[in-house]
Amino acid sequence: MIEVKELSKNYGITRAVDRLAFTVEKGEVLDFLGPNGAGKTTTMKMLTCYLPPSSGTASIFGFDILEDSMEVRRRIGYLPEKNPLYTDMDVHSFLELAARLKGVGRDAIAASVDDVVERCGLGDVGHRKIGNLSKGFQQRVGIAQAIVNDPELLILDEPTIGLDPRQIIDIRSLIKDLGKDRTVILSSHILPEVSQVCDRIIIINNGRLVAVDTPENLRDRLKRSSMTKVRIAGSVDIADAERVISSIDGARMICSDEKGGDGSSLFTVESATDSDIRNLLVKKLVEADIPLLEIYSEELSLEDIFIRLVTEEGGA
Ligand SMILES: Nc1ncnc2c1ncn2[C@@H]1O[C@H](COP(=O)(O)OP(=O)(O)OP(=O)(O)O)[C@@H](O)[C@H]1O
Ligand SMILES: [Mg+2]
Repeated sequence: MIEVKELSKNYGITRAVDRLAFTVEKGEVLDFLGPNGAGKTTTMKMLTCYLPPSSGTASIFGFDILEDSMEVRRRIGYLPEKNPLYTDMDVHSFLELAARLKGVGRDAIAASVDDVVERCGLGDVGHRKIGNLSKGFQQRVGIAQAIVNDPELLILDEPTIGLDPRQIIDIRSLIKDLGKDRTVILSSHILPEVSQVCDRIIIINNGRLVAVDTPENLRDRLKRSSMTKVRIAGSVDIADAERVISSIDGARMICSDEKGGDGSSLFTVESATDSDIRNLLVKKLVEADIPLLEIYSEELSLEDIFIRLVTEEGGA
């Protein structure tokens, strides 16, 4: 298990990470989500013993990052934000070097390299110069060097950044595969990707923990304030519709500027309650003689959840 205990980091007067505390179970795939400057990279650097915390600590499978940093390093594979590759080397030689540096025994190096080449789909490019490979393949080489000593914990800082959609899918399935037999912590900005790969999401903002939960629970947690879309005919006075909608307890019309090709208006109605207000909305609109063309409730996407949690936190 990984236990992060009140971990903090200051850069001068900037508090990059602020008393972060969470746990990760063995075998979990955890995503670190947060806007630019949230403190993701800084946290990862502390967990991998590249950067000492200003206060607090963490234990990785029972080893403290301050007291037992050698034991911690031995158990971690790390793909830093800026993928550190020797671009003049060919893939094979680079991975052999990485294996040697990570203490893989002389006799085991060839087998370890063959194994990661296979797992990361590098078979066809093993003898090519790293600098000439596409970004997606360079990213695979970065992941391959991170797993060459078969670490129990894999920390990947933005593994899919800068990749095209096809490469993102490939790297995602690679991460999913690697997550089957080890613990993975990754950071990413690409939210739809995240929900398919990870077991839990940690959202951080301004160095502080905003939420930690499964993607499904995060979605559920915000469902209580749900969105309903209502389309009414163009002939209706918007102010009338607004009056009817705001007469419903807790309901608020938050947008009315989406015009359909037929001149109709699409409203977004936000309600603060748990209950589904569609039924009530229909009743009220019909009573007021407002022609209702369409009504549906909108699922919150992970993007919505992320923005809301981060905005709520920012305003707190
Ligand atoms: N070496 C440094 N010296 C001073 N300030 C730093 C340093 N590294 C990071 N920071 C600051 O610490 C904060 C957290 O940065 P960090 O790189 O950890 O964020 P991040 O969540 O990884 O962001 P991104 O999504 O842009 O990668 C930012 O305000 C950043 O400017
Ligand atoms: Mg970063």
